[in-house]
Amino acid sequence: MMKNTQTGYGLVAILLHWIMVLAIFGMFGLGLYMVELTYYDSWYHGSLETHKAIGVLVALVFVVRFGWRQLNPSPAGLSTKKLENTAAHFAHLGLYLVIAVLLVSGYLISTADGRAVDVFGLFSVPATLTERGSQEEIAGEVHEILAWLLMAMVAVHALAALKHHVINKDNTLKRMLKPGL
Ligand code: HEM
Ligand code: HEM
Repeated sequence: MMKNTQTGYGLVAILLHWIMVLAIFGMFGLGLYMVELTYYDSWYHGSLETHKAIGVLVALVFVVRFGWRQLNPSPAGLSTKKLENTAAHFAHLGLYLVIAVLLVSGYLISTADGRAVDVFGLFSVPATLTERGSQEEIAGEVHEILAWLLMAMVAVHALAALKHHVINKDNTLKRMLKPGL
């Protein structure tokens, strides 16, 4: 069961969801940790390079995931209230939007000085828009705010999933864990 159906998620969507959950939580923790380091810490440079390189890989997974979503039916929401299903649909689109702008802002901070982003020596992403006044500062502010906003949205999202599981006792959470439900 690779593809989604009208009622459940396929293996590809499930794997992409949970891979991105791990990557995003890891990137959030690494981001907060690395900005506290000083020039004299041994991992000052390495942590930033790792954050940027993993960030580019997350962006690639994001494109694959969003593309896959367009090629598949989105399983209908399981709530009995139509309004709740519509809200969940827009909340999911909101998550995608915030992640996309978060990734782009990270790229714009990193490339403001014209340097490319090196991805573990495998390939590099060239700079396009470079320093225009305060690009680095503005992109940095946007990046920080969106990282926190994403965490707040994810908290509500996860609580909603748990509410469906524990209170409504429906398949909302189970179908994001097992293909074909
Ligand atoms: C999964 C997505 C990402 C998350 C959750 C994330 C999270 C964070 C967080 C929490 C910070 C610390 C913000 C602060 O307290 O100032 C940060 C900083 C930073 N991130 Fe990301 N990030 C992501 C993707 C990226 C990408 C794709 C890039 C670049 C290719 C990037 C480049 C940077 C840079 C350069 C900083 C340092 C900013 C500064 O020194 O003020 N991030 N990130
Ligand atoms: C970084 C953290 C997370 C992000 C960015 C995220 C993002 C998303 C997105 C964008 C969707 C919509 C999938 C689609 O139809 O294309 C989704 C669905 C889902 N997520 Fe998450 N998620 C995160 C964490 C979690 C956690 C921690 C849980 C469980 C406690 C969870 C449970 C679910 C469930 C059950 C669905 C399916 C909802 C439905 O069928 O209507 N997610 N998630």
